[in-house]
Order: sequence, then C-alpha cells, then structure tokens
Amino acid sequence: MNENNIEWTKLAEVESFNENPEQLLKVKRDDILVIKNNDGFYAINNRCPHLGLALNLGGCNHQEKTIHCKFHSSDFSYDTGEVKAWLNVKGFEKFMTWLFTKMDPDAKKMMSMEPKPVETFPTKVEDDHVWVGINNSI
Ligand code: FES
Repeated sequence: MNENNIEWTKLAEVESFNENPEQLLKVKRDDILVIKNNDGFYAINNRCPHLGLALNLGGCNHQEKTIHCKFHSSDFSYDTGEVKAWLNVKGFEKFMTWLFTKMDPDAKKMMSMEPKPVETFPTKVEDDHVWVGINNSI
C-alpha cells in the first residue's frame, strides 16, 4: 500500500469505544465499521463482499477477530479481510437456499459466487480520536 495515497479521516473519540466498541461511521459515501478489541482498532467496509448487505448486524468474535454476516453465514477476519467461512448456511436456512436456487437462476448465481475478502482500512489514534485511512488510488 502506498502511504502517500492514504487520506486520513478523524472519526470518533477513543473513549466513546468503551461503551460502544463497534461503531458505524460514514466516510464520504462508505459506511465504515470501526471495531475495538484488546489489541486496538480495526476498520472495515460495512458492506459484505457477497451481496453488499450490512455486516454490523451479524456480530463479532473478538477471540478470532472475525465478523459474521448474518444473511448467508459468511465470516471474515476484521484484521486482514480474509474469508474464514463463505455462504456457510445450515439446517432450514440451507434447505430454503437450495429451494430458491432451484426456482430462481439469479439466486443460484448469487449462491455460487466465488469468495471475496472484505475491504479493510488502516487506523491510528491521534488527538484522542480514532482515524481511518482510505487509499484514494483504488
Ligand atoms: S450478504 Fe453477506 S454472506 Fe450474503
């Protein structure tokens, strides 16, 4: 990553994360989810790379540093963006997904997409605030 192309945006007070360790914040047109755990701050694009739905609704596992997408059971590292589980639907949800894919070719296409990592952003703490760096060259 070329550091010269990174534009830093001041987001929220560090202290505000004590009560609210996962904050959804707007940077230009993106919804950035900033997550605090014991190691520091992490920032990801809140849009799931599968269908663009909101990741913050699924919850985090801070031991694993992952976030879960509740819509089709995918898990991503909020540290690296890596896919940890992809479209891992189970039980009744799996049956319904199978049924939809039989009836609707678009649903079949959606459920056969290749895994894609979630976008991550660098963070820093300065002036008692968390900042996020967005690479403008992408
Ligand atoms: S929208 Fe997230 S896994 Fe489908």
